[in-house]
Parts: sequence; C-alpha cells; structure tokens
Amino acid sequence: MACHFTKQLLRTAFAGFSCLAILLLTALLASAQTPSLKDAYKGSFFIGAALNPAEFTEQDARFTALVIAQFNAITPENALKWESVHPQPGSYNFDLPDRYVAFGENNHMFIVGHNLVWHNQTPAWVFQDDKGNPADRETLLKRLREHIHTVVGRYHGRINGWDVVNEALEEDGTLRQTPWLKIIGEDYIAKAFQFAHEADPQAELYYNDYNLENETKLKGALELLRKLQAQGVPISGVGIQGHYHMDSPSNEQVDAAITAFGKLGLKVMITELDVDVLPLAFQYMGADVTLSAELQPKLNPYAKGLPDAVQQALAQRYAGLFGVFLKHRGVLKRVTFWGVTDGDSWLNNWPVKGRTNYPLLFDRSGQPKPAFDAVIRAAHSATPQ
Ligand code: GLA
Repeated sequence: MACHFTKQLLRTAFAGFSCLAILLLTALLASAQTPSLKDAYKGSFFIGAALNPAEFTEQDARFTALVIAQFNAITPENALKWESVHPQPGSYNFDLPDRYVAFGENNHMFIVGHNLVWHNQTPAWVFQDDKGNPADRETLLKRLREHIHTVVGRYHGRINGWDVVNEALEEDGTLRQTPWLKIIGEDYIAKAFQFAHEADPQAELYYNDYNLENETKLKGALELLRKLQAQGVPISGVGIQGHYHMDSPSNEQVDAAITAFGKLGLKVMITELDVDVLPLAFQYMGADVTLSAELQPKLNPYAKGLPDAVQQALAQRYAGLFGVFLKHRGVLKRVTFWGVTDGDSWLNNWPVKGRTNYPLLFDRSGQPKPAFDAVIRAAHSATPQ
C-alpha cells in the first residue's frame, strides 16, 4: 500500500516536473523563433520596457524570458517612485530597486531610474512640517536633496539615466501648480538636477512629460529646457512619454516634437509608449493619473477580444510611429514601452477601472501581435544610415 502510494507520488511529481519543463522549453523555443525588437533596432536606438516586480524578480519565468529576449533597456514601473522607495521620513525600501538594478546588470541592459520629483505618488508628509502644515522652502529643499542623494547615490555608476523631474508643466505650457513649485519656487527643477548630478556625475539626467506633441505645451517645454541650459543646469535629455491614441497625436506632431528637442542639443527619448485603442472616456488626451471615469459598456467594447480590423489598424499606427522614430536615429536614443504585455498595462484601469485594452506589442499570454510584426518590418525596411 505504502509502496503504491510512493509510486503514485513519484508519478505525480514527475508529471508536474515534465509539465513545467515543457512549458519552459516551449517559452524558450517560441522566443528563439520570434525575431527580437532589440536586434532589429540595434544601431538605431535602445528598445525598452517598463517592468513590474514579477518581471524583474523573475517570479514569472515566461514573461521574464520575453523581457530578456526582446528588450535592452528597462524602467521600473513603480519601484523607484517616492512613495515606494521612501514611504516614511528616514525609511527607505531598497529591496525591489536593488533587484531591479541587479536584473538589468545581469542582462546587460540600459537601466533607467524613474523618477525623482513628481507631484503624484509622493507621500503627503514630504510637503508638511511636524504639525501637518505646509513645509517651508528650506525644509523641502533639504528633504529633496537628502532623497536624491540617498537614492541616486545608492545606484551610483549602475543606473545609467534618471527621469529627474516628471510632468512639471500644465497643458498651456506654464509651470504646473504643484507643492514643489508652491513651496520651493521655480528653482526646484534646477535644484533637483543639481542634486542628482552631485550624487552621480556620470548619470544621464532627463526631464520627462506627456502631451509634448501639443503646440502650446511643446512651446512651454522648449522654453523651460532652454532656460535650464542657459543656467548651466546639468540636463542631458528629454523624455517624451508617448501615451498615444489611434489617431492622435499625428505622426507629423511627433516628428515636430522630436525635431524641436533635438535642436536644443538634447538626447531625446520616447519613454512610456503605448497606444490606447479604447473610446475616450472624456475629451481629454493625456496621462493625468488623478483623473477617473465610470465604467460603462460602451467604453469597453473589446472585452471579449480585439476585432481584426482594429488589430490591423493598431499595427498601422505603430508602423507609422516607428517610421518617424527611425527618421530620428542619432537624436532619438531610446524607445521604451510602458509595459510588456497588454495585461500589464495601466490603460486597463485608467481613466476607467476594469477595461480590456490592447496598447502594447504582446498579447496577454505574451504572444507577439500584428503590431509587433509591423514594428519589426519597419526596422527592416528603413534605409541604412
Ligand atoms: C505617468 C508616469 C508613469 C506612470 C504613468 C501611468 O506617465 O510618468 O510613472 O505612472 O503615468 O502609469
């Protein structure tokens, strides 16, 4: 009886083991047969992805294999935002960021830090004194310096580039009215770059924002960057987030924004690329993460799958965008997607919670979509430089 039981147990264990081995082997074979984005764009620019912890701690072997096969640059989706890395005064969580950086190093990737100064995902205490009143300029500057020196300093020589200031502009191109601006004044931006440069003089330092393709915001961004350059602020590049829709912004607008930033002599990056295929919840196109709208069936038309016509239209959209990106090889240093698979994307929950969106190149099971083939084809049909 005992012997029968042991045999049964062994058989089950063996079946489990072979199942796992087959799964891994299939994943490896599939990724070996699929062309890779990073190889197709070698010599043009880095191809990156924002990663969640399951991907960079290798908890999810299938998606980790996909990341390693396809991308040569990474950004942490949340692990380095202030609320994650420094949730309480004097207390830092470096466990996930350490694993993120080690993952990038082990796989020889360009490692991005995201982000140092933002008005979202920053705890309220940062802007308050001990009594809960608004902190004064000196206190906030001291906190900013300590945060940047601690976080950037820890990864000195290991994180290659930092999004230093995120989304400091309003849609009309003026400085956004954030607690950073209200408490410190407009030099908070220059100070943040200066602190980051002190902590790691070799790291590239970027300004990062969305809707930079819109004329007014683009004008404001160009003014801000020119001013920083004139003051000798150590800024090396600008990140165009690239949260796009199927027909907006136009390829011409994207082209014009890259050209304009390139003329400042800055490195240009597309830092958070995705294409929202769902109907607009309201007349707003941007990436203000504080906005939200009610879930209604008409806002979630593809819950059961993406119709082929939309799938093809998305492929066309991506082909057009990469055509523009390829035109700017040399100035454009990196194109990073905001997520790896459609299932990862924040666009399933923003601005409406619980929708089914399809904004990336890999489907929910990690299979390449027609949009992936279109991006690979665009690289192959580009004229050599
Ligand atoms: C902004 C931020 C990112 C991320 C996206 C949405 O673009 O820069 O860190 O939060 O919004 O997820």
